[in-house]
Amino acid sequence: MNKLLTLQDIDLHNKKVFLRVDYNVVSNGKIIDEFRVRASLPTIKYLLEQNCSIILASHNGRPEGKVVESMSLRPVARLLPRLLNRDVAFFDDCVGEEVSQEAEYLRAGDIVLLENLRFHPGEEANDKTFATQLANLAEVYINDAFAAIHRAHASTVGVAKLLPHAAGKLVQKEYDTFEMLMHKPPRPYTAIIGGAKISDKIEVLDELLKHVDALLIGGAMANTFLAALGNTMQKSLVEKSNFVDALKIIKLAKTKKVKLVLPTDVIVAKKIDSKQRGRIVPIDQLEKDDIALDIGPDTMKAFDKTVAESNTVFWNGTLGMAELSAFAKASDNLAHTMISSDAQTIVGGGDTAAFVDTQDLAEHFSFVSTGGGASLELLAGKKLPGIEVLLKK
Ligand code: 3PG
Repeated sequence: MNKLLTLQDIDLHNKKVFLRVDYNVVSNGKIIDEFRVRASLPTIKYLLEQNCSIILASHNGRPEGKVVESMSLRPVARLLPRLLNRDVAFFDDCVGEEVSQEAEYLRAGDIVLLENLRFHPGEEANDKTFATQLANLAEVYINDAFAAIHRAHASTVGVAKLLPHAAGKLVQKEYDTFEMLMHKPPRPYTAIIGGAKISDKIEVLDELLKHVDALLIGGAMANTFLAALGNTMQKSLVEKSNFVDALKIIKLAKTKKVKLVLPTDVIVAKKIDSKQRGRIVPIDQLEKDDIALDIGPDTMKAFDKTVAESNTVFWNGTLGMAELSAFAKASDNLAHTMISSDAQTIVGGGDTAAFVDTQDLAEHFSFVSTGGGASLELLAGKKLPGIEVLLKK
């Protein structure tokens, strides 16, 4: 197994550290997800113990190389002092003369957050000059931005090549967790995959079938499997162009002797809004205009049974339209079933992490990943650029 360079592998004492974090949590000037900010604290605290000064850097949103005020990271600079119980300064830019000069004066224990890296086109282009400007601010590079580790950008790859570097505590924990899932999960190992679209997750499903003992499919994604098998899903979200993929996955599960569980009943409504209460129907009895918005109680029971028999459970993708409480029941039930099992329980990032965090359940799982796209790419067996530059040679 490839090992990451860790905080113990480099000399950090009294150093000025460029710490790449993922604070992609601000929408229209408001913090919508504190979870990722809290997840960055152990590394910050460790660096403070080493007498470091810390330059925090992150992207937020997709401003496409321009300054977009609503995507500023300033709200995070207001949150951090509350979480860390110490001052955190904010720089209006991430490069430039003023930033360089101010960075010069940082002393042990000082923390500063730079403005959104993606306000400069050089970030996403992994531009050498931009990476050099960032690297010149510090003496050491630490990457703790797991959620952005699948991006080959200046701050995730370019700067790492220019400074002594290592993974932060979060990246290390995330990486170790996914390596465990890929190479030595305690068996039986069950993966539960939900979410809207099968098209986003085909590669992951393919790869998972090499590793898991059971694969449970929920969310709108299940509709495509059910329709491909000949069920009439009425107005439910179905990706017709992926019928062939869905059937291939069903066949592969059979060949690999993986237990595949698809919904046998669903909760339907005629409209998608918060006033709908939903009706339980078997999957072959949807009526005209029905939209499947959650999995039904019989399916939930089957999921619960498989989870109870497992020693490792990985979950990515809500099982219904969880932003509406009437269709969040299966996701809520699964979260509680996982928490009360003795298995190692791992939740993939993105919407699923946000779901368990807003229910205040995150700390009861063995691990909740901060990375949506990043965790799926790792599980699909891909090499991630931000990880590759942090590996021990
Ligand atoms: C995420 O939230 O998935 C990461 O911060 C990456 O964001 P991106 O998809 O805009 O690169």
